[in-house]
Amino acid sequence: MYQLLRSLLFLFDPEKVHYFSMNSFRLLCKIPGVQALLRRFFTPKETSPFIVFNISFPNKVGLAAGFDKNARYLNELQVMGFGCVEIGTVTPKAQAGNDKPRLFRLPKDKALINRMGFNNDGVEVVVSRLKTWRSKASSQLVIGGNIGKNKITPNEDAWKDYAACFTALHDYVDYFVVNVSSPNTPGLRELQEKDALKKILTHLQMLNKNYASPKPILLKIAPDLTNEQLNDVISLAVDIQLDGLVAANTTVDRSNLITTADAVEKIGAGGLSGKPVHQRSTAIVQYIHQKTNGTIPIIASGGIFTAADAVEKINAGASLVQVWTGFIYEGPSIVKNICKGL
Ligand SMILES: Cc1cc2nc3c(=O)[nH]c(=O)nc-3n(C[C@H](O)[C@H](O)[C@H](O)COP(=O)(O)O)c2cc1C
Repeated sequence: MYQLLRSLLFLFDPEKVHYFSMNSFRLLCKIPGVQALLRRFFTPKETSPFIVFNISFPNKVGLAAGFDKNARYLNELQVMGFGCVEIGTVTPKAQAGNDKPRLFRLPKDKALINRMGFNNDGVEVVVSRLKTWRSKASSQLVIGGNIGKNKITPNEDAWKDYAACFTALHDYVDYFVVNVSSPNTPGLRELQEKDALKKILTHLQMLNKNYASPKPILLKIAPDLTNEQLNDVISLAVDIQLDGLVAANTTVDRSNLITTADAVEKIGAGGLSGKPVHQRSTAIVQYIHQKTNGTIPIIASGGIFTAADAVEKINAGASLVQVWTGFIYEGPSIVKNICKGL
């Protein structure tokens, strides 16, 4: 059924389809009785709560950052069975992101390329949506807050942007993810360098100590890091007792694609996601898990479409998994289907 709908949706611009689909689903949920029916249909049955970094997750399948950047669709995503949604990347000030088109499908590779550029409504607007969401009795999602810096903020001041988002969101999210790994904000990934990272993360940890209930702080890394860079990240994470890592973001690598080189070149710059990042993301999860003897919880992201993909990540050492591109290709039953096979 979804395959048919997908063929239709894939005829149109990916970014427009994204909002059209989520808004249509919202309308559907407004028809009396329909939301409860959909919820019963999509909610995975074979799950029991799973505790990681002291948070109880309703199931192991979350939605990766960038899908609901502005916390606009939390109710709909909960209806679709997600246990956790990572909102963001949120920056202190609203920003428009890169020029459109900036999201492209590579159906032959079951992949996407995006150069969104942290388009988001800014932290204040997102906080007000989260406040409303939290006040509803029906809200059960675990919410991750993925935070970043504005494009105009120079890297030496980046720590201030992360701190501003962290402070504003602290009461409204369950955990934080520091995103220094998007390829679409110029220079951002330089912040993965050890000293820059240490400054940002230790400052957030210092702020965190002042709260009655500190929130777990995780770091999201790029799949393009060399083993040497990965070793630096791992030793820093161990040194400062980071709560976890998210592995991994989109890649700038374009090797081994089925889509023709001409077509890929025409799309241009951006982060590649989906099936082509699957293997590298598993390898990184395994590498971190082995190097740390499993002492740092890992959320796996990258090319997860099926239960078998998720099992592979969990066997490699992941505690939880997140989907994004798989959701586009597999449809809203993805959470239910993955949970069934876990
Ligand atoms: C259109 C799009 C936008 C994204 N935006 C963000 C973002 O704002 N912050 C972030 O940390 N990751 C972002 N990502 C990366 C995803 O969260 C995920 O880590 C990556 O796509 C790999 O997973 P996948 O293969 O399941 O898509 C984005 C991905 C896509 C496709």
